[in-house]
Amino acid sequence: MPAQMQIESVPLADALGAEVHGIDLSVPLSGETVAAIRQTWLDHQVLVFRNQHLTDAQLTDFSRHFGDLDTVPGWEPFSPSGHPEVLIISNVRKDGATIGVLGDGEASWHTDMSYLDQPPPGSLLYSLEVPDTGGDTCFMSMYAALDALPTDIREAIRGKSLNHDSSHDSAGNLRSNHTAFEDVSGAPGAQHPIVRAHPETGRPALFLGRRLHAWIVGESVESSEALLDRIWEHCTRQEFTYCHQWQRGDLLMWDNRCTMHRRDPFDAQARRVMHRTQLKGDAPVRAAASA
Ligand code: OGA
Ligand code: MN
Repeated sequence: MPAQMQIESVPLADALGAEVHGIDLSVPLSGETVAAIRQTWLDHQVLVFRNQHLTDAQLTDFSRHFGDLDTVPGWEPFSPSGHPEVLIISNVRKDGATIGVLGDGEASWHTDMSYLDQPPPGSLLYSLEVPDTGGDTCFMSMYAALDALPTDIREAIRGKSLNHDSSHDSAGNLRSNHTAFEDVSGAPGAQHPIVRAHPETGRPALFLGRRLHAWIVGESVESSEALLDRIWEHCTRQEFTYCHQWQRGDLLMWDNRCTMHRRDPFDAQARRVMHRTQLKGDAPVRAAASA
């Protein structure tokens, strides 16, 4: 019998984030419970479930309630054996090689894999080992950032698309199968509307991907850089964010269609091990108001 659970959520910040109580994610969930979680997710953009005890199979089973799962091209070696849909995010080394990706450094603000034509709508991250301090993950509401965007910037980006560079990872490193370039207007990647409509809520949200190597299509590099600097300065205000301090057993799920995230660095000697799944993508849709 799938478990019927009464879920209760408590907001974590003004702009986004809610902690969900009363749920054990390791057991099969009823359709009603899944629907309630989905609605809470759409309402709050980032959900936090504490004190979970999940195997990789339970993590993928829970994740699949929200869509088909995807893998990250090039990162296949960093999956636990038998679970190609789980990616290990870790700085831990074994036999001279890291068992996962992203190391111990800062990961700057980004949306997962926005350089694809069909970026993942959501990602789920489950903590197995966390450092005592550092390694916090912060989230930004792109609904709230857009709502508060100064009118002249909103006018300047109306109907515009952004080129999302595919050649660097979120730690800023050049990916192994790419070559360096000077001119951001020549960066490889995907072009998406800067203001997208969330396909489920209908709400418009800014869609920025990453700051580094981004380019507003059709603008000179100089004016694109100036505009992007203003947009990013506006977005990174604390009032649009929630920062998560991890405990072991936390599962977070975030909506890439209306949030960005970043991660603090942490002590290289400390161990941080997270298992992650990612939902299969769909193409972002331009918001009508900005068309
Ligand atoms: C990710 C990511 C941040 C973190 O998994 O996409 O950005 O806190 N992780 O490890
Ligand atoms: Mn990420």
